[in-house]
Amino acid sequence: MNLILLGAPGAGKGTLASYLIEKMGVPSVSTGNILREAIRNGTELGKQAKAFMDAGKLVSDELVIDLLKERIAQPDCQKGFILDGFPRTIPQAEALDGIAQIDCALSLEVEDSVIEGRMTGRRTCTKCGATYHIVANPPKAEGVCDACGDALQIRADDKLEVVRQRLETYHAQTEPLKEYYGAQGKLKSIDGEQGIEQTKKLACEALGL
Ligand code: AP5
Repeated sequence: MNLILLGAPGAGKGTLASYLIEKMGVPSVSTGNILREAIRNGTELGKQAKAFMDAGKLVSDELVIDLLKERIAQPDCQKGFILDGFPRTIPQAEALDGIAQIDCALSLEVEDSVIEGRMTGRRTCTKCGATYHIVANPPKAEGVCDACGDALQIRADDKLEVVRQRLETYHAQTEPLKEYYGAQGKLKSIDGEQGIEQTKKLACEALGL
């Protein structure tokens, strides 16, 4: 299955994707993670993306479409993939339609007020990409990744003022994708405000897993 996870920043796309990787046996592709890695490695892509990401704005369609095309052409994506954070604009969705057959777009519905609490409590491991929340999903030892033992970090774009800008960007540029996939009969929506375990269960039911 080729699946898109839609939802506001902090709706839980990455958390659900880590679970679905095992459940579906396909890789997850996060354009946000690819861009953050490029920034850490100081590549040309990272240099171009950083200012947009720090400001809570979207990186250019051209840049992310190219990197997505390259990533889903890899052998591990041939039996299916989960897209986390792509597409984010109508031009990105149209480009995707030209390169892959999408089976379902699953939207995690979460109110903006809930998002703010999630983002300020999020801790991430920059080494292995694992995500935690200080209340909803704490690591076993404070500040240390359960999976690889590295120190957990607060993402640069999880500051409240940047989160608010990201939400504005989401409503203006990404939310219209629900209508886009709805018109294709591919949209499924679930309540993303339940706990992490309940969200996994609702997703499996919606996807028939
Ligand atoms: P990206 O990395 O994609 O960020 P995002 O979409 O804003 O999503 P997040 O990763 O912040 O949140 P999430 O939904 O994965 O939530 P998570 O599972 O971590 O993009 C970052 C930036 O890169 C963009 O702003 C843009 O600049 C650029 N970019 C990326 N892709 C692009 C594209 N295609 N085009 C242009 N620019 C692009 O959960 C959040 C927290 O909540 C965690 O702490 C988690 O533990 C907790 N949590 C999760 N689920 C639950 C639950 N059910 N109950 C309670 N807590 C929960």
